Amino acid sequence: MRVGVIGTGHVGLITCTSLASVGHRVVGCDADPGKVSDLVAGRMPFHEPGVEELLKAHLADGTLRFTTATAEAVDGADVVFICVGTPPRASGEANLLAVEQAAREIARAATGPLVVVEKSTVPAGTAARVQRTLVLERTDLVDGLDVVSNPEFLREGQALHDAMHPDRILVGASSPRAFEVMRRLYGPFLSDDVRLIETDITSAELAKHASNAFLALKISYANALARLCEASGADVEAVTGVMGADPRIGPEFLRAGLGFGGYCFPKDLVAFGHLAQRLGYPFPMLAEVARINDEAIDAALGKIRDALWNLEGKRIALLGLSFKPDTDDVRFSPALALARRLVVEGARVVGYDPVAGAMAKQEVPELELAENAYEAARDSHCVVICTAWDELRELDLAKVGELVAFKIVVDGRNLLDAAAVVEAGFSYHPMGRPGQSPPMGGSRA
Ligand code: UGA
Repeated sequence: MRVGVIGTGHVGLITCTSLASVGHRVVGCDADPGKVSDLVAGRMPFHEPGVEELLKAHLADGTLRFTTATAEAVDGADVVFICVGTPPRASGEANLLAVEQAAREIARAATGPLVVVEKSTVPAGTAARVQRTLVLERTDLVDGLDVVSNPEFLREGQALHDAMHPDRILVGASSPRAFEVMRRLYGPFLSDDVRLIETDITSAELAKHASNAFLALKISYANALARLCEASGADVEAVTGVMGADPRIGPEFLRAGLGFGGYCFPKDLVAFGHLAQRLGYPFPMLAEVARINDEAIDAALGKIRDALWNLEGKRIALLGLSFKPDTDDVRFSPALALARRLVVEGARVVGYDPVAGAMAKQEVPELELAENAYEAARDSHCVVICTAWDELRELDLAKVGELVAFKIVVDGRNLLDAAAVVEAGFSYHPMGRPGQSPPMGGSRA
């Protein structure tokens, strides 16, 4: 089938490459000419494992092209995806201007019947707006333009795997023709294990926000438990381990730590809250989920303060700066939220990340960047694990111990082996678990 994709960010580019890889002919379109010329040359605009290889392969075999002209992506297409950004406005509401503009441009460029797919995360009711926009632009094509809601469930860092091996594909539509087109489009991804779930449009839109908010809620539940465990002497990993063994609860997204970040959960929670307000059901639980998430940063800061007393002039090494491992995305990163708080308190903050250092420095200019974890740790008074990169799990703790000023580790992700850290002479301060110190008190703090 012929597919156009408007917007080549994380969602758009994965959509382009995954659909090209099953034989569809895809044209990706982006308003940013620099990005398009990079993509045409096979250069990735962000770090996402496995995508560059597919990008190069399908540029080479001609199934994937990029352009700045919407008309080129729409001309002759069976399906056009809207994958533009929906950033938060100052109020926290989703800004849908780019969605409206994309819908307008698609309508103007349409040459015949077309299924317009809303893939960007949008509040329920947006598809109806898109449909109205299409009709206003093209009275001549009223019966030929179908709108579909097809939210994505991709995780950054595993996006390609999630796209190629989805656990479900959600299609919200209102016409048999639109369902039929989407079934054909996604046919190559379906199997006995992978279902295409068909709903009405509004339910599909709502299901995306509901899923993200529920996952965020699970994390905040674990973080609230972490605070309770710290107060009681229990171990949050033990508690969530027991909970997760119940298949009705499940073990995923119960990891306590510095909390969730990224461009999805924090902004989707707020946008979902706004939608709920607008619909007359305030859904106060959502604000509480966000508050507990902020509290995780307070908790980590409290541990650093407890260990170091005053923070002015202290050198703190933050290991891991991206919002989670395997991505260079630092948007709403808990590591950077912590960095900002430490800077305000007068600490010198040194950061290291395998791929996100430059991005982090743009967000927090006061951050000193180190070439590797050991350089970050050199002369530091406290080492803080902020992101669960595998590389950090493998740290040579004896070497770190020789470099630091004080042997103190705050483990914001409960990543390290407590016994090994203490064995190397550090005092160890995890999240929601009892702290441990070496018998003789390895720290000079
Ligand atoms: C999330 C959802 O998982 C995807 O299903 C969804 O498609 C995507 O948002 C989106 O709306 O586009 P993503 O933001 O890439 O994906 O990241 P996650 O893997 O969900 O992690 C989000 C945050 O939660 C990270 O900061 C992570 O460190 C944190 N987290 C995750 C925890 O603190 N504890 C956990 O147990 C799990």
